[in-house]
Amino acid sequence: QSDISDDLTTILVTEQEIRDKLAELARQIETDYAGKDVLLVGVLKGAVMVMADLARELRIPLSMDWMAVSSYGAGTKSSGVVQIRKDLDADLTGRHVLIVEDIIDSGLTLSWLLENFASRGAASIEVCALLRKPEAAKVHVECKYVGFDIPNDFVVGYGLDFDEKYRNLRDVGVLAPHVYA
Ligand code: PRP
Ligand code: MN
Ligand code: MG
Repeated sequence: QSDISDDLTTILVTEQEIRDKLAELARQIETDYAGKDVLLVGVLKGAVMVMADLARELRIPLSMDWMAVSSYGAGTKSSGVVQIRKDLDADLTGRHVLIVEDIIDSGLTLSWLLENFASRGAASIEVCALLRKPEAAKVHVECKYVGFDIPNDFVVGYGLDFDEKYRNLRDVGVLAPHVYA
């Protein structure tokens, strides 16, 4: 029986490191949103794991909504073309929105989303991303809560996929080149 973790060359962030970091970020978020009703917006599908774990770390009142966008398809490079597959259910008017992402790579997805959300009348919009690749940035995205800055490698796990696979890995790791070559 093959084990999907055999397709990784390196583990970059372990399950335990993710858990500790989300707890740390959650304490900051609880302080910053004290007395406010926050709407967490998870960006499907990559953010599912971060959303589930971050939300359970938070001890403040919150709602969750989901936006499905995709810019990668089956490739390893961002196309820059963002498609909405599912829009929000919630009306953002007057809401304190915290966008939850697994990774900021080129930044194109989030900058597009931030622009899209800006016109919807939110009281505030911030971003929480577990991972960020500074060397891959094509556009600057203001992100208040960042878990880890990582090198510009193709990473999978903890929600991040290659061709829809590897999302169920508990750690984040570098995908072996032979898998996508
Ligand atoms: C991935 C990832 C981020 C985005 C980051 O999503 O989950 O949403 O790419 O890349 P960028 O900063 O270069 O835009 P993807 O489009 O692969 O969809 P998925 O979440 O369904 O995997
Ligand atoms: Mn995504
Ligand atoms: Mg993807």
